[in-house]
Amino acid sequence: MSSDKKLNVLMCGTGEYTTGWTPSGASKSDKKIGVVGLTLFDLRRLGKVEKLSMVGVNGSKFPAIREHLNANIAQVYKDIDTSFEGFPEEGKVDPEAYKTAIDKLSAGDAVIIFTPDNTHYDIAKYAIERGLHVLVTKPAVQFLKHHLELVQLAAKHKVVCFVEHHKRFDPVYGDAKVRAQTLGECNFFSAWMSQPKSQLETFRAWAGKDSDISYYLSSHHIDIHCWIMQGRAVPTRVVASAATGIATGEPYNCVPQTEDTITLLVDWQSLASSRHRSTAVYTASWTAPMNSGVHSAQHWYYMAEKGEINVDQAHRGYDIVNDATGKSYYNPFYMKYTPSESGHFDGQRGYGYVSIEKFVDAARSVNAGTTTAADFDAHGLPTIANTVLTTAILHAGRLSLDEKRPVYIKQQGDEWVLE
Ligand SMILES: NC(=O)c1ccc[n+]([C@@H]2O[C@H](COP(=O)([O-])OP(=O)(O)OC[C@H]3O[C@@H](n4cnc5c(N)ncnc54)[C@H](O)[C@@H]3O)[C@@H](O)[C@H]2O)c1
Repeated sequence: MSSDKKLNVLMCGTGEYTTGWTPSGASKSDKKIGVVGLTLFDLRRLGKVEKLSMVGVNGSKFPAIREHLNANIAQVYKDIDTSFEGFPEEGKVDPEAYKTAIDKLSAGDAVIIFTPDNTHYDIAKYAIERGLHVLVTKPAVQFLKHHLELVQLAAKHKVVCFVEHHKRFDPVYGDAKVRAQTLGECNFFSAWMSQPKSQLETFRAWAGKDSDISYYLSSHHIDIHCWIMQGRAVPTRVVASAATGIATGEPYNCVPQTEDTITLLVDWQSLASSRHRSTAVYTASWTAPMNSGVHSAQHWYYMAEKGEINVDQAHRGYDIVNDATGKSYYNPFYMKYTPSESGHFDGQRGYGYVSIEKFVDAARSVNAGTTTAADFDAHGLPTIANTVLTTAILHAGRLSLDEKRPVYIKQQGDEWVLE
């Protein structure tokens, strides 16, 4: 694999996940120096990646971002170069700068999209139509129709299109997925995921306006549940309920339609047995208490005919107490930021890193002609084709909230539709 041509990558979005830089300075979350940029800088050091570029909306942010990356990555880890080409240029504001940045790439190059949820579809479509491989963060898109269109476009242009569902690479989740298959028909699944209220400041530009907390956080565990159920059962009906009042009050003052906590209640029908139907409850909140010791609280429960599975991803049996800040639960299995014994970045085994590296490897092997993009669908990876039902459930949940009714998910031939 390492003899394959190196990959040129454009990062879309310059925010928390890409750089760790937010409107209020360095992120206070568990991603102070981001994930995408750091991983790609390290993959460049290791010889898998070549040219790196980054596109946002406001070019004037780049000096502060470069300084932040230099001080917290280049000066901290040995032999790591944090340079990249930025779009739009300094002094310019341009929400369509992604087109200029993408136009500079050649077919076979790659685009990694971490921008607000409602911009994913336009950017991914523009990139795929130019023969570029795409890794788009969750939620892939907000509408089922858009998701199905990206599936077709990726197949037509023979490019890799993955959704960055990094939890599929958490060894515990991957192990639980396989063990779930041995427990018979699913009966009940519930997932809880939350982040502290302070995130409403980080995401002020879009929270409640352009996306909701279900799209933002429940997308993680809906995807895990869909992955566990793939080929075994299908979702048929979604009813949503929302709690409100915190995000729209002081000091957050989010737009009036912002929900605090969203719950989706979903019926699943077994494909092997008409008798077996299961219920799933997916809840997500961005108004959880501060100082709980974790950035993202997250656990799920799976009950089946012959057993049950419990996963608490936030508490890994590892906590640190600091006089100034109290108790914190770290998760180096996701991103390990502490350096290696030689002083290099040492997080190559974290699933946040692995998820991006798998995409880089897939794109390079397709470019080298070793595999075809379609091969990855059969491997059960989070390809755009393998994640249709995740978007179907999220979109149905939004419709259910807006129209105050149950929404049905149906298969018509090869297509999925909402009714
Ligand atoms: N922060 C996380 O922990 C995390 C984790 C997983 C996935 N995500 C996903 O990442 C996406 C948001 O990224 P973030 O968390 O870094 O948020 P953020 O708000 O910190 O950053 C968003 C970035 O997108 C840029 N942007 C907005 N419109 C754009 C456009 N038209 N073209 C190019 N760039 C544009 C903004 O300038 C900003 O740099 C969301 O879809 C979210 O679901 C975030």
